[in-house]
Amino acid sequence: MEKTVEEIKKLAKEKDAVILAHYYVDGAIQEIADYVGDSFFLAKKAKEVENKTIVFCGVTFMGESAAILNPDKTILLPNITSRCPMAEMVDEEEIEKMREQYDDLAVVCYINSNASTKELVDVCVTSSNALKILKNLPQKNIYFIPDQNLGSWLAKQVPEKNFIMGSGFCHVHHSIEADYVKELKEKYKGVKLLAHPECKLEVCELADYVGSTSGIIDFATSCEDKEFLIATEAGVLHELQKRNPDKVFHFVPKRSCMNMHKITLDQVLECLQANAPQAVVSEKVRVKAEKALDNMLKYASL
Ligand code: 13P
Ligand code: SF4
Repeated sequence: MEKTVEEIKKLAKEKDAVILAHYYVDGAIQEIADYVGDSFFLAKKAKEVENKTIVFCGVTFMGESAAILNPDKTILLPNITSRCPMAEMVDEEEIEKMREQYDDLAVVCYINSNASTKELVDVCVTSSNALKILKNLPQKNIYFIPDQNLGSWLAKQVPEKNFIMGSGFCHVHHSIEADYVKELKEKYKGVKLLAHPECKLEVCELADYVGSTSGIIDFATSCEDKEFLIATEAGVLHELQKRNPDKVFHFVPKRSCMNMHKITLDQVLECLQANAPQAVVSEKVRVKAEKALDNMLKYASL
């Protein structure tokens, strides 16, 4: 393993490549990355870095978003089969129907979506910027796709908007049941629950903090408590424990995203050697999809 890590570092330097990793990938991959973060941080970082090549260690929509925002950079995906199933849960034909049905409508799409969907929508959001973006959007009606759980959580925070919800979900978070969380809250009385908004609304409503992967890690790090209940994917434990070696984290229960964890160090090395696989988006789709991502960056910085 050490040899592979050395080879990755050497080759990345030779090729002027930067390695980005999401908090859900294996700890060994997070350790070799130049930057680790939530999906919004990684999208911004992909645009900021000057390196010609980005190795994107995350599910494919993340690399695809980097390719949309950076047509002059090469985006390498160590495992092209690491796809987020939620990104496929969009009925693209519904988008046009909604536009015909509602005046004053914004089609808002979670970044966990394919380029072919981003091409059709007004703005993308991530869990760390969605609230701000929705409050900044002038439209009253919001068609929120694909994540019904994030959408329901947002609808509760922004009651002045009228939400029409997509029916997608993340199976990793959706399978966390409120009754089980209640049992654990009973067992660990007084211990704060930190939840990702991809969890069902009834789980989020039990939480002391709801936020993105970065948000959860930052909250647990800055809070003086020594013990936490965590409702998100298991990969965050690596950074939680790294920043907080003296704290204890109980998952409710521990759930893994098999697509994120497919990525291996060998694959990172192989993609650098072969300069493939790459995230490829046709220029026709890219130009339209870029508008939705640019709008995200614009509305998130207002
Ligand atoms: P964030 O890192 O933006 O919280 O997203 C979590 C996720 O499920 C990515 O697929
Ligand atoms: Fe998709 Fe859920 Fe995995 Fe995130 S954790 S990549 S939303 S399946």
